[in-house]
Amino acid sequence: MKRTKIIDVLTRTEVGTELVVKGWVRAFRSNRFIQLNDGSTINSLQAVIDFENFDEAVLKKITTGAAVGLTGVLIESQGSGQSVELQVKEVEIIGEANPDDVQKTVMQPKKHSLEFLREQAHLRFRTNVFGAVFRIRHGVSYAIHKFFNDKGFFYIHAPIITGSDAEGAGEMFHVTNLDMEKLPKNEAGTVDYSEDFFGKPVNLTVSGQLEAELAALALGQVYTFGPTFRAENSNTSRHLAEFWMIEPEVAFNDLNDNMDLAEEMLKYICKYIVDNFADDLAFLNEREKAEQQTKPVNERNELTLLERLDFVINNDFKRITYTEAIDVLMNSNHYKKKKFKYEVNWGTDLQSEHERYLVEKEFKRPVIITDYPAAFKAFYMRRNDNSELGKETVAAMDILFPGIGEMVGGSQREERLDVLKEKCAAFGIHEADLWWYLDTRKFGTVPHSGFGLGFERMVMFVTGMTNIRDVIPFPRTPGNAEF
Ligand code: 4AD
Ligand code: MG
Repeated sequence: MKRTKIIDVLTRTEVGTELVVKGWVRAFRSNRFIQLNDGSTINSLQAVIDFENFDEAVLKKITTGAAVGLTGVLIESQGSGQSVELQVKEVEIIGEANPDDVQKTVMQPKKHSLEFLREQAHLRFRTNVFGAVFRIRHGVSYAIHKFFNDKGFFYIHAPIITGSDAEGAGEMFHVTNLDMEKLPKNEAGTVDYSEDFFGKPVNLTVSGQLEAELAALALGQVYTFGPTFRAENSNTSRHLAEFWMIEPEVAFNDLNDNMDLAEEMLKYICKYIVDNFADDLAFLNEREKAEQQTKPVNERNELTLLERLDFVINNDFKRITYTEAIDVLMNSNHYKKKKFKYEVNWGTDLQSEHERYLVEKEFKRPVIITDYPAAFKAFYMRRNDNSELGKETVAAMDILFPGIGEMVGGSQREERLDVLKEKCAAFGIHEADLWWYLDTRKFGTVPHSGFGLGFERMVMFVTGMTNIRDVIPFPRTPGNAEF
């Protein structure tokens, strides 16, 4: 008999059906009640065994963490808590778990800290919390593809190995097939790449945007969804060295269209998860509530996870310019009481304390900040000519979320070749390295816009997890690439 997944047993199987389930034992009580989980849902199936009918040797192997197959009949549950249970007729021990080892692992029912579990990446998938997080992570990914597909976007695969630094921030991981130490240098001391696989310096991509722009200027509406890599040495709860990014790019869209698209997408993702992952969300919501109780009252969240999702789905984001944001900050009591650590003035980038103030204290909702000073934004952003915003600003947008900070970064792109060349010069970017990008501005250039969504930051928001390492199966951070 083929196995039935536990989610199907619990939601769409009639009482009286004979079936096989396979999974991992969560608990075995009184030599009689097995809690079996197969990962298809957070809920375990209770299976009841008449131990008198089974060999002692078999019963001994039904330990927490062991993999078993159970054949039996679905009956109405005698106890409370679940509506059905499995009356077991046959037990197959598929993979034993030594109870002594289990004591030391995450598979025992006792609660473990998230930090401890991070070091047990092979086992943390088995816990309720990570089961819920990774099912939802899948859901977010699927929702994104569905959102763009339904709108007629095409999914473009940007390269992972590239010769460019799309963000111009120099935070790249270099790639070569040669021993870096042994790369020959010429007289001037620069590395000679003639022996290298690619014959030139290449790196892991920091963003698929430039490639997406090429595609958008032919296919109209596209998006990338892939891993990106940044060698920024930020050991924070919001940064990874390897993270996934979604980068839509749309021909003929201006900055307003770009904001509309991003806001619609973010709401869509939240709604998709609320509609399709109710059990996992309910579990994470309760977990967060319990954790909040351990904190001082003034440090607790105002809203629960479910309330935060509901809020985002049903309320417009606040949209302000960078100039307005600086005004708000400088007129705040927080500023007057000198409570900001970093300075606030026009021309200086916002620090996360400023962003948090705007989102969590001032507006209490997601905020889109636009039209930043050109000086600290990427070279490809469109200069705000002929506007009251002034020449020194660019058509940029950052979307900030409560508890997360920057969720999305995007812009209208500089489509004018002459201005783009000026920007390259100002940023020290060699035109020769970007000829393939600059060429798009020579052959039917059009206004276009796009943005990048940090996938893990989105998963943090919809799961309520507070450390980005806990929403990716194998986190890569400075000094950490164990698994
Ligand atoms: O703001 P960023 O650097 O923008 C770009 O890369 C543009 N090329 C996007 C575009 O316009 N197509 O990154 C975009 C988003 C950030 O808002 C943040 O959510 C996330 O990517 N992000 C990170 N997430 C985790 N770890 C890091 N080190 C991240 N750096 C950026
Ligand atoms: Mg950014």
